Amino acid sequence: MIRGGKPLKGTVAVSGAKNATLALMPAAMLAPGTFHFANTPALRDVGTMSSLLRSMGMRIELKGNVLTLDTKRITKHEAPYEHVKKMRASVYVLGPLVARFGEAKVSLPGGCAWGPRPVNLHIEGIRKLGATVELEGGYIIAHAARLQGARIHFDVSSVGATGNVMMAATLAQGTTLIDNAAIEPEITALAEFLVAMGARIDGIGTNRLEIEGVETLHPADCTTIPDRIEAGTFLVAAAITGGSVTLTSVNASHLSAVIAKLEDAGCTVRCEGATVSLEAPGTIRPVDVTAAIYPGFPTDMQAQWTTLMAVASGTSVVTDSIYFDRFKHVPELVRLGADVEVKENAAVVRGVERLTGAKVMSTDLRASASLILAGLVAEGTTEVLRVYHIDRGYEAIEKKLHSLGADIRREAGEEF
Ligand code: UD1
Repeated sequence: MIRGGKPLKGTVAVSGAKNATLALMPAAMLAPGTFHFANTPALRDVGTMSSLLRSMGMRIELKGNVLTLDTKRITKHEAPYEHVKKMRASVYVLGPLVARFGEAKVSLPGGCAWGPRPVNLHIEGIRKLGATVELEGGYIIAHAARLQGARIHFDVSSVGATGNVMMAATLAQGTTLIDNAAIEPEITALAEFLVAMGARIDGIGTNRLEIEGVETLHPADCTTIPDRIEAGTFLVAAAITGGSVTLTSVNASHLSAVIAKLEDAGCTVRCEGATVSLEAPGTIRPVDVTAAIYPGFPTDMQAQWTTLMAVASGTSVVTDSIYFDRFKHVPELVRLGADVEVKENAAVVRGVERLTGAKVMSTDLRASASLILAGLVAEGTTEVLRVYHIDRGYEAIEKKLHSLGADIRREAGEEF
């Protein structure tokens, strides 16, 4: 429940990155032992990944923001549908399982709330490394005595496929070359963690990774990088409410595209060390964005940007070049008075003077973020339903927003 109209003011700490954590956790399967991940966000998705890994025999505990993982007794090599259907990132277990245990049975994830999301590149990559892969009864079933290094070229730059194949290749025999690898910061963080575990990886942070397989890896500890999407969402929250907010524990270089676009919209943004401060302008200027692979504007910020543009002083076009159908938030924004029209993979957003509170329905994680942002600026009360989506990727969002002066509360029954 949000009563809009309060400019956000103050300082808030950014949590660890969901998408980094979801890759680091399965990576721990590559070596037996105990791992500690500092700065792990307490999120529903981290809980889902924990349940999946526990079902295979891992012991996992989150205390404060330190995640401890014990990988000494992994007895099952299967990711059942019940887990994978809740979270597509579950497919990350494929590479580590085949690499360390020579077998994996992983449910196919199927579609997503906003459209098809294939895993063909993950499967092709693992096959290229010499595994036999069959699709049977809705499952990916993979076997390999020992994976073999290979030359892999991804036709599409994929975060998940790069992560999966990179993890698998660390224990392969020989050298693997991944071309058109994803360079998202979460992949770089994963690669650096694998190196800390004893992997040999060259080209980290570039789109050509060279991985020389090793016989064994060992446990390592790490600190999870800041969540650039949570940070971007809070910057938009400051901008849309006419506020002034400082984020701490943030990596501004991961946010270049978002910060540049916020400046184009009229915001004043200052980056100093691990802090980013934003001061909102009197009027938000319309700014076109095209969501693209890193370092482009993140698709995970597309819905939030659409909300900001909904109250800008003119018309803008928000295009998504990664997920063509990711506009489920638009009909809900329209219910709040936004003037947005979707044409193919673009939203034409004609800024309006005001949004008005109403009941709206979250359909997915980032859509729910965009609706909360709308609620923060809408007149009257906005009730965001199915807010559990937000808990997948934002740690205590209502508490953080409340600490910045937002009038927001969670109704009983909608708890994390
Ligand atoms: C990751 C992020 C997600 C983000 C997305 C794009 C995690 C857990 N999730 O998802 O939040 O929105 O990156 O930045 O890190 N593709 C294929 N075949 C495949 C795999 C992907 O065609 O086998 C296509 C997808 O349909 C999409 C594009 O590649 O068009 C990029 O998707 P990808 O980078 O793989 O996204 P995810 O890793 O699933």
